[in-house]
Amino acid sequence: MSIIAVGSAKASPGVTSLSVGLGQSWEPTTGRRAVVVEADGDGGVLAARFGLASSPSLVELSGTTRHEMTISRLQASCQPLAGHLPALVAPGCGETTTRILSHLAKRLADGFGQLDEIDAVVDVGRVRLDSPAAELIKHCDLLVLVAHPRFDQLVPLVHQARRVLSEDIPTALVCVGDRPYPPTEMAKASQLDLLGVMAHEPRVTQALVGGFPVNQRHRRLLLWRTLTELVHRIHFRLQAAAGGREAA
Ligand SMILES: Nc1ncnc2c1ncn2[C@@H]1O[C@H](COP(=O)(O)OP(=O)(O)O)[C@@H](O)[C@H]1O
Ligand SMILES: [Mg+2]
Repeated sequence: MSIIAVGSAKASPGVTSLSVGLGQSWEPTTGRRAVVVEADGDGGVLAARFGLASSPSLVELSGTTRHEMTISRLQASCQPLAGHLPALVAPGCGETTTRILSHLAKRLADGFGQLDEIDAVVDVGRVRLDSPAAELIKHCDLLVLVAHPRFDQLVPLVHQARRVLSEDIPTALVCVGDRPYPPTEMAKASQLDLLGVMAHEPRVTQALVGGFPVNQRHRRLLLWRTLTELVHRIHFRLQAAAGGREAA
């Protein structure tokens, strides 16, 4: 299993929406199954947004810590989001999520590494290496930093990028929209590879926050095409990294 961590340096640029979008586009694009994991220390929003139950969630999975993580244990803790995407949701309360993640994050990172048949898109919220999701960030196959191309997001992005790159965490940038700064300038200043631009489409994004189900017409729109393109690029990077490891 590959772990794709998605987070921001600051503010609320669309991390959860991008995580859901990548999760929904993952299997149609790569042919591999995906699970979306909510590991945001500020607490979860997916259950509320998509009308899911409060359980099962990270809480139930944390109750099985003495057992090995298997695909069936993982699936038993997931709920189907928007019909089919397995989602491991976090409790809405930040304190509870932080407490659970503080002992579950390392186990999730180790356990996911053992599961071959499914990839995890992990919403880590605000990226901090002392956050409860730090073990997932440190052990991910790719950290996707999300930012609006604006000056107030550039400065924290530059600092966070320096921090994660100094820890050898493979990291790339996704910009939400392409204004006012060109995303290439954001990438250059932060020394991150620009993975792509998620179209800024407030109306269509409602599908990613549970506002309406995705249909074939939406899949033809720019936002969905860019999500598919992002999944292609992520998958390509993961395969190239795995090939490099095998050759070494
Ligand atoms: N690509 C996008 N285009 C337009 N609006 C977006 C986009 N992504 C997210 N949003 C909006 O931004 C707000 C925050 O999104 P969310 O994904 O919850 O951000 P975060 O997880 O970073 O806090 C939501 O209202 C969402 O609809
Ligand atoms: Mg979020």
